[in-house]
Amino acid sequence: MSSIYPIGVFDSGVGGLSVLRDIRKELSNEDLLYVADSSHAPYGDKESEYIEARSIAISQFLVDQPVKAIVVACNTATGAAVAKLRTRFSVPIIAMEPAVKPAVEKTKTGVVGVLATRRTVSSENFINLLTRFGANADIVVQPCPGLVEQVEAGDLLGEKTRTLLEPFVLPLLERGVDTIVLGCTHYPFLAPLIRAMVGIDVDIIDPGEAIARELRRRLENIGRLSRRDRLGTEQFWTSGSPKSAKKLISQLWETEVEVMRLPE
Ligand code: DGL
Repeated sequence: MSSIYPIGVFDSGVGGLSVLRDIRKELSNEDLLYVADSSHAPYGDKESEYIEARSIAISQFLVDQPVKAIVVACNTATGAAVAKLRTRFSVPIIAMEPAVKPAVEKTKTGVVGVLATRRTVSSENFINLLTRFGANADIVVQPCPGLVEQVEAGDLLGEKTRTLLEPFVLPLLERGVDTIVLGCTHYPFLAPLIRAMVGIDVDIIDPGEAIARELRRRLENIGRLSRRDRLGTEQFWTSGSPKSAKKLISQLWETEVEVMRLPE
């Protein structure tokens, strides 16, 4: 495994671009390969076995490229598949999980809200997180069906998204939450809308930066950080239509990009 290989990043769709953005800031000279499993999104209301099979197939594709590390930029895939991925693949696998620990450390009211998909909140990983850190705070868990679809449709600020989001977010304020964890990588794209609803006194925690730092540490530890003196590149793949993915990814990445079709 060479330090010049790219880093592979995947998600059910475009949510992981919020993590890719943080990785790009942290590791400017690394080449990044992003896979959006768009024809299978959303993962959040699918069975674990299905998500596990998709995560294995995509990781296999990434390992075949080859990549030097894989970032599972999807809380739902972490919950359903990370243990299996780690037994199957020998490259370092960096995975997302809702940032309950930092939120519990931060809260002053002692009440923390977590927004995530239905599959994440019912996963064993998440239940373990609550058991480990929930004793020190009241944690209000809010599944948000439908939100991922809004981001996949590129509707980040529209009326439909706002109407969907309000009943997830406003009750958290009534419960006294002062810290909200974005437990799905699609949700950072909705942060401006969430911020407008909760005001400036509520902390919104997006774990993307922490994941990017963790990735740097892991590569550093195995001596695989790129030493090249040039800006890294990004390559985008989708299991859905490259044409619609190109439009959406260019919108979220804020640059015109090319998107390739993932082999079947
Ligand atoms: N972005 C994902 C996550 O972090 C997956 C959402 C979905 O496909 O339901 O959970």
